[in-house]
Amino acid sequence: MKDFIIKGQVLDSAGPELLRCRENSYIVVTEGLCRGVFPLVPEQYAGLPVTDFGTGMILPGMSDLHLHAAQFGFRGLGMDMELLDWLERYTFPEEARFSDLRYAEQAYSGFVSLLRRSCTTRAAVFASVHREATLLLMEKLEASGLRCYVGKVNMDRNCPDYIREPDAQSALRDTEEWILQAQSFAHTKPILTPRFIPTCSDPLMRGLKELQRKYALPTQSHLSENYGEIAWVRELSPDAAHYGDAYARFGMFGGDHPCIMAHCVHSGEEELELIRRNGVFIAHSPESNMNLASGVAPVSRYLSLGLRVGLASDLAGGSSENMLRAMTHAIQASKLRWRLADQEVKPLSLEQAFWMATAGGGAFFGKVGRFEPGFALDAVVLDDSSLSTPRPLRLRDRLERAVYLADERHITAKFVDGVRLF
Ligand code: GUN
Ligand code: FE
Repeated sequence: MKDFIIKGQVLDSAGPELLRCRENSYIVVTEGLCRGVFPLVPEQYAGLPVTDFGTGMILPGMSDLHLHAAQFGFRGLGMDMELLDWLERYTFPEEARFSDLRYAEQAYSGFVSLLRRSCTTRAAVFASVHREATLLLMEKLEASGLRCYVGKVNMDRNCPDYIREPDAQSALRDTEEWILQAQSFAHTKPILTPRFIPTCSDPLMRGLKELQRKYALPTQSHLSENYGEIAWVRELSPDAAHYGDAYARFGMFGGDHPCIMAHCVHSGEEELELIRRNGVFIAHSPESNMNLASGVAPVSRYLSLGLRVGLASDLAGGSSENMLRAMTHAIQASKLRWRLADQEVKPLSLEQAFWMATAGGGAFFGKVGRFEPGFALDAVVLDDSSLSTPRPLRLRDRLERAVYLADERHITAKFVDGVRLF
């Protein structure tokens, strides 16, 4: 049933700094698309069934622009290292387990149920190098009703033998087979996923570009996250003008295709200019950046430059899939950055964090993340009545409190693409 009306306290973003609060309003949905938000049901929609969520807050579903399904098993663990050591010590051994489909079954079931219960309606997901386990994850995400891009990870150098693809050719063959098998899913789409420059040889990157063109695929990777990583890329790609250019030289940095780059904590001016020109989406992952002591991206500056920025949990660099926590962390980290490092870049506001979690990241998936006519109806309903306070609160302040205090227990309903999941 994709024609209906939901009523409640409606909040969404009209711009990066502009929160729109509409009390006791009706969201009209036909064919799974939002037709508008109205104070009264318009005459022409009078026959549609109405679900009234009362005082509940209806928010756009959130888009998690970067997380690792194959790291679900060690979320909340291994917070004592920086990126490169963390990959060797914790991440690669965990991801290696996904050669075993029984382990994958268990881990991915847990991951998908967590995501399904969360505020997230859309996500760009890294799996592991394993084709079959990646397809299993895609099957589960397809069945969940969520809308995801999923990447079989590519890496053919600079990682342990037990998880490395043997060479570029076999990696590309395996990846193409995965792309073809993934065509069977209606809503779970493949996204090319070179892990990052250090683990991807030039022949692999060239071959991935051919696959990108042949199948018109989006791409995702990591960029300028950690100082040691950036120095390594400079050594590995001495001719590249900057880290982003090391992808761009292969045509794997947006421009002619949609592209997400996670982190961008330490991107320089030239790199930012290329990100802007190529319409690359930045996946800001504040909790991960703190856990791995990577740094704090100057996100409000990125927003003021007009860059496309979405928010991400980066599970399991981040411990939680909860996008409300990602918003909280983004705001808190930006304040420490401002206080301790750089008074030129203002701290993030609630409005900006909410924008990134909804409209900013949603734009990667099309008309998603706002209650505008023609947008997909992705929504979560939050019941904050258990977060008691003696004070009367306006809607904006209820949202702020929910961002800091709420979790999946406060989600009473969830809609994706016009379908109610629960
Ligand atoms: N860079 C390359 N791989 C990874 C990863 O798995 N997590 C994070 N945070 N950064 C990476
Ligand atoms: Fe990551």
